[in-house]
Amino acid sequence: MKQEILTITENRQLTPSTWLMRMAGDVSAIKAPGQFINIRLDGHFLRRPISVCDVSSDEVTIIYKVLGHGTEEMTHFSPGAKLDVLTGLGNGYDLDDAGERPLLIGGGVGIPPLYLATRCLAKADTTVILGFNSEDEIYYVDEFEKLGARVIVATADGSRGVRGFVTDAFRELVNKGEIFTHFYTCGPEPMLKAVYERVYEKAGISGQMSFEERMGCGFGACMGCSTKTKNGNKRICKEGPVLRTEEIIW
Ligand SMILES: Cc1cc2nc3c(=O)[nH]c(=O)nc-3n(C[C@H](O)[C@H](O)[C@H](O)COP(=O)(O)OP(=O)(O)OC[C@H]3O[C@@H](n4cnc5c(N)ncnc54)[C@H](O)[C@@H]3O)c2cc1C
Ligand code: FES
Repeated sequence: MKQEILTITENRQLTPSTWLMRMAGDVSAIKAPGQFINIRLDGHFLRRPISVCDVSSDEVTIIYKVLGHGTEEMTHFSPGAKLDVLTGLGNGYDLDDAGERPLLIGGGVGIPPLYLATRCLAKADTTVILGFNSEDEIYYVDEFEKLGARVIVATADGSRGVRGFVTDAFRELVNKGEIFTHFYTCGPEPMLKAVYERVYEKAGISGQMSFEERMGCGFGACMGCSTKTKNGNKRICKEGPVLRTEEIIW
């Protein structure tokens, strides 16, 4: 983990509620897809944890949804503004287990960390299922396609792609006889639970799931994010946010 002052280079709206921010500076502590950064905002005691969507030698990209005061304030930052950021937090996804046909499943604000994972899996035959509530919330589909992945969109209201949830899109693939070697997922907890039941328990595919737990310190000091697993208690900010299907207790 490093504490850095990063300079905003871009902050633009992608959908009515979702924004993309790029920040330049020392981002060398970011080592794996699925890691997150923790942003200090003036007037707020707790930092705001946001997943790394992409990273280069000197720039990190995040995508954030406007939820409360903190993320609303972030929409007003202009290029040139400086932010105090903890970088390189969490364990991230282990891509060594991906195999030849990995499946990535993202929902809503759980989609960003899967972008870097997909980019790092460039040589694999990668399928990405992206779930949204409706067409106006869709973002980053073209960017995933440009990485060479097959992208399947599911919308809850059926306004684009498969009607229903990411698990409905997965069922269609399985019904066509498709086989996957491993899966990676991130999204709201009800989605994660449905993916666990459908993809791991029913279809027998092992995977790695990223949890967006509420956090205190974000770097392992306060135990505020401690959660029970089959391998004992784990701090989601430090030994997570990615847990393996085999160790998760719902
Ligand atoms: C590891 C991790 C990765 C995340 N990645 C992303 C991402 O890529 N994009 C994105 O839009 N959001 C992401 N989130 C959720 C994001 O942290 C919250 O939406 C954000 O902190 C809300 O802040 P706020 O001030 O707008 O909301 P408020 O409700 O005012 O926040 C009050 C407090 O609750 C915490 N909080 C509120 N909602 C959440 C939540 N869902 N998860 C965790 N803490 C929360 C805030 O950090 C803050 O401390 C991630 C969360 C975690 C833990
Ligand atoms: S948030 Fe403090 S230990 Fe995880």
